[in-house]
Amino acid sequence: MRYGLSTTFALALVASAFATPSQPSPRQTNPFTTTPITDFDEPWSLAFLPDNRILVTEKRGQLRLVDPTTKAKGTITGVPSVAYGGQGGFGDVALHPNFAENNLVYISYAESGTGGAGAAVARAKLVLNTSGGGALQGLEVIWRQSQKVSATGHYSHRILFDGNSTMWISSGERQAFDPAQAMTSNLGKILRLNDDGTVPAGNPFTGTPGSQVWALGVRNPLGIAFDEQGRLWEVEMGPMGGDEINLIEKGANYGWPIVSQGDHYDGKAIPRHSTRPEFAAPKAWWTPVISPSSLIIYKGSLFSSWKGNAIISSLGALGLVRVEISGTTAREVQRISLGKRTRCVREGPDGALWVLEDGAGGRLLKLTPR
Ligand SMILES: *[C@@H]1O[C@H](CO)[C@@H](O)[C@H](O)[C@H]1NC(C)=O
Ligand SMILES: *[C@@H]1O[C@H](CO)[C@@H](O)[C@H](O)[C@H]1NC(C)=O
Repeated sequence: MRYGLSTTFALALVASAFATPSQPSPRQTNPFTTTPITDFDEPWSLAFLPDNRILVTEKRGQLRLVDPTTKAKGTITGVPSVAYGGQGGFGDVALHPNFAENNLVYISYAESGTGGAGAAVARAKLVLNTSGGGALQGLEVIWRQSQKVSATGHYSHRILFDGNSTMWISSGERQAFDPAQAMTSNLGKILRLNDDGTVPAGNPFTGTPGSQVWALGVRNPLGIAFDEQGRLWEVEMGPMGGDEINLIEKGANYGWPIVSQGDHYDGKAIPRHSTRPEFAAPKAWWTPVISPSSLIIYKGSLFSSWKGNAIISSLGALGLVRVEISGTTAREVQRISLGKRTRCVREGPDGALWVLEDGAGGRLLKLTPR
């Protein structure tokens, strides 16, 4: 057994974890004072600079720089051309943990090539000018999905750094199903890489690209975040039903597309997790779905009772879903409607929540306690 548990104990855990899906929590009064900052053309992700200005990606391929105090919006040039369409385009943006010294910014995006499109991650130096704009310089592509496919969904391509400057990438299965189980592909995987894209010591698998892989069998993992204990959590969109929050463990297989708490869109059934306890089961799951688009684990003190909770931005629930994490269990405790499909949530340096609405005209909102 992967977890060193007795099979009987593991089966009992699986059975109790899968009695029912997460219930939508009761509607509560909106706890936020909402400050709209500015709007964007299909914003996708954001990252705070040390001076509290904010980089925002727009799916068609623009990188914006926003000063939340003046609400001024500038442009950063030098973004590579992106394969815009379906779920594809410009994706994530993250700063190197030593950004203050090296000015390195990491971006993910869909790129075109033989066979269709695939996600790529590049890094570049961010050089700012005094008029609220700037440029990416010396851009180098340091990672690519191992195959390009004609589908335009499930890139996922979130980028996350841990305290050791190790880079984590969530790589979706590109609507191709089986590659999520194949070590000849890095699709449908959670990857652990050095900050230059090379493979660090300590990963559980070998080969190319298998040595990049930390965990496998994921579908469309649009959110990854560490908790205070250094555990990695992930949210992913399931098929028809079965959105998941998973605790990502070294070498674990999360079972897609062999098992799921949802079924195929054409109605064809997929066996449930309870039938195959060798696959790591989600800590909570949603049917009907919430369509999780990003994840943070709250660490601030502005919303003091939320410390350690997972906050999920949700397209389907039109707002945020708050999940209480206790040890290795997870349970939805609050659903907060913001009235719009929500593309990204991030915690600001002051503990405020910053949210990007989805789609054309999507706004950047600052949420503070009411
Ligand atoms: C600052 O950068 C932006 C984007 O590259 C550019 O449009 C603008 O002209 C620059 N301003 C100056 C003063 O260089
Ligand atoms: C960072 O490295 C240390 C020492 O190898 C390790 O104990 C720790 O778990 C690592 N942190 C993360 C988030 O991987």
